[in-house]
Amino acid sequence: MSAPNIETIVSLSKRRGFVFPASDIYGGLGSSWDYGPLGVELANNIKRSWWNWLVYERDDIEGLDSSIIQNRLTWKYSGHETTFSDPLVDCRACKGRFRLDKLQDVQCLNHPSVHPGEDKECDLTEAREFNLMFRTTVGAVSSDEDESALAYLRPETAQGIFINFANVLNTSRRKLPFGIAQIGKAFRNEVTPGNFIFRTREFEQMEMEYFCRAEDAPRLHQEWIDGFQEWIQSLGISAENLKLYEQSKEELAHYAERTVDILYRYFPEREDEEKQWDELMGIANRTDYDLRVHSKKPEDSEGKRINPDTTEDLSYFDPQTNERFYPYVIEPAIGVNRTLLAVMMDAYTEKTNDKGETRVILKLAPELAPIKVAVLPLAKNKPEIVELAKKLKRELQPSMRAVYDDTGGIGKLYARQDEIGTPFCVTVDHESLEDNAVTVRDRDTWEQERIPIDRLKEYLAQRL
Ligand code: GAP
Repeated sequence: MSAPNIETIVSLSKRRGFVFPASDIYGGLGSSWDYGPLGVELANNIKRSWWNWLVYERDDIEGLDSSIIQNRLTWKYSGHETTFSDPLVDCRACKGRFRLDKLQDVQCLNHPSVHPGEDKECDLTEAREFNLMFRTTVGAVSSDEDESALAYLRPETAQGIFINFANVLNTSRRKLPFGIAQIGKAFRNEVTPGNFIFRTREFEQMEMEYFCRAEDAPRLHQEWIDGFQEWIQSLGISAENLKLYEQSKEELAHYAERTVDILYRYFPEREDEEKQWDELMGIANRTDYDLRVHSKKPEDSEGKRINPDTTEDLSYFDPQTNERFYPYVIEPAIGVNRTLLAVMMDAYTEKTNDKGETRVILKLAPELAPIKVAVLPLAKNKPEIVELAKKLKRELQPSMRAVYDDTGGIGKLYARQDEIGTPFCVTVDHESLEDNAVTVRDRDTWEQERIPIDRLKEYLAQRL
């Protein structure tokens, strides 16, 4: 089972402290969200899993953390200043503003049962391009319009990797193929944000640029497509809610030769099966486009440098073949927020207990669970039991995230932990004071096992 729709996760998130609407006390800010105590743990665990898998478990990937605000020339030469835009139309009748390529997904403001353009009264303007980059100014400038101070919040983390290619190559002494991984915030002034944390204006990306020889790029591209499907499933997401999508030539970004998206079933409630899916991540073959456009040597057909502003040449010298060339790059790019949404949707389960009550269980992979173990006293009016439970929590916490809770009856405490995905509850009862053992309850099976206290840490670590 998985969540029947995104709304189920929105309400669970708000109720239990995963995700809250941002600026809520001032009426909110369209499609902005804050991550609460559990949400930040879940997001951190997703990021840690990605980083471990790429940077620690392999031998060919380095990490990086580049600036959010870069020199504006980065975005001039990457092509984002001229091409990172959506085509917009306005409706003179309903005064709505829509993305031309998404008219089918939105409703006319006057007649919500139809799409803009389908209604006779709709009066759509010609499309015009709207650049998605957020503008800002750097330094104490006299006017916000001062072009010399203009800068952008990065719309992708990738460019920070390309402009640092020579720095990483020279300091790490890498040979092709090798990758550079980065996690960080990205910003896009999306025209139609929405669907909870699926499309927002501020979000977080996990991007890796894998540099290689042109002739190896198609094979490595396929290897990363296969590899990421496996990693996503290792997060507990089931294969039946994932599928691949090959972008058509018309859909490809200006830099890409081939892009394959991994889609997740974010909208299972939709009748039309085709409309249930949307992009979780993209895996692109960006060719040598980016390293070339940021380099000082390449020239156009008239012999002019295509980039007269850069001081660096981002080519690679192969000492074995004595060749110098611009490496190709394979880019698996995935959003932290969309991953978190897919992980929560897939983990969502309902189960009926002996009393016929429906309980929510978030069957998160233990690696991702915000809290690994909850220590619960069976009787909170018995000081020895409370003391022992608190002591156990303190002993477990350095090696695994643990909480102590005595704010309800045991049934309620179990239900609360199930709903937030805690894999294990440890109950301290009257017998614990005699036999030095506790009851460990499994979130998914609700089975209970008696474990000696001196073996508890080892037992939990093994099962986690
Ligand atoms: N460097 C390539 C790149 O940025 P992208 O497909 O535009 O490619 C990569 O973005 C991933 O970032 C997407 O697959 C998605 O997971 C996430 N993402 C993109 N725009 C987003 C938005 N507005 N809100 C949330 N996540 C977004």
